[in-house]
Amino acid sequence: MDLPIDNKSHIYPHAFSVSTRDRAELLRQTPGIVWFTGLSAAGKSTIASAVELRLHRSGKHTFLLDGDTLRTGLCRDLSFSNEHRHENIRRAGEVSRLMADAGLLVLVCAISPFAADRELARALAGPHRFMEVHVHVPLAVAERRDPKGLYKLARLGAIKNFTGIDSPYEEPAAPDIRINTTQCSVADAAALITQQLCGT
Ligand SMILES: Nc1ncnc2c1ncn2[C@@H]1O[C@H](COP(=O)(O)OP(=O)(O)OP(=O)(O)O)[C@@H](O)[C@H]1O
Ligand SMILES: [Mg+2]
Repeated sequence: MDLPIDNKSHIYPHAFSVSTRDRAELLRQTPGIVWFTGLSAAGKSTIASAVELRLHRSGKHTFLLDGDTLRTGLCRDLSFSNEHRHENIRRAGEVSRLMADAGLLVLVCAISPFAADRELARALAGPHRFMEVHVHVPLAVAERRDPKGLYKLARLGAIKNFTGIDSPYEEPAAPDIRINTTQCSVADAAALITQQLCGT
């Protein structure tokens, strides 16, 4: 995407009085970003929702940033071309970074098919604040589940650039956690992720 101007030379970050660390201390938690990647219907939103419920019930301050929510608001101007997918994930990464700076445990659900974009999100998050969860499912199972009916439309050609059908998904080579949702229940996945995140 074209950026309008080189604006960096006119930006002077202010030294604000309350720091990221101050906010986290007030909330009594270590902020961070859990990034769920995987095919449509893999189970990202389902598992992230279960993780958020566990965290919330244990007194953690959370926010769930779901790809579908972003695409109806902040990213409503973006298509599913490769260029716009990069921009979609860049925005999700920037917003999740801000939310982590606010002290929150942020759960991001986005197909995020390109490894470079996920690495950008990790870099934006900063050291020790990013956990990549690959929610894995074989394409055939995702197509059988098809809770939104999107695979059917993609196979009919009514939706273009659909991940797994006519747009690629680059599997994470070394995610922090990989969940195979044909073998692991939602409850077990949520317990595993929460344990790795908070030790509880
Ligand atoms: N072990 C499992 N973990 C997660 N979801 C499962 C599991 N077994 C079956 N499912 C079902 O798979 C579907 C996953 O849908 P979900 O909306 O969570 O996928 P998603 O990865 O968020 O997809 P999208 O990218 O389209 O938002 C749900 O209908 C869920 O009930
Ligand atoms: Mg989802």
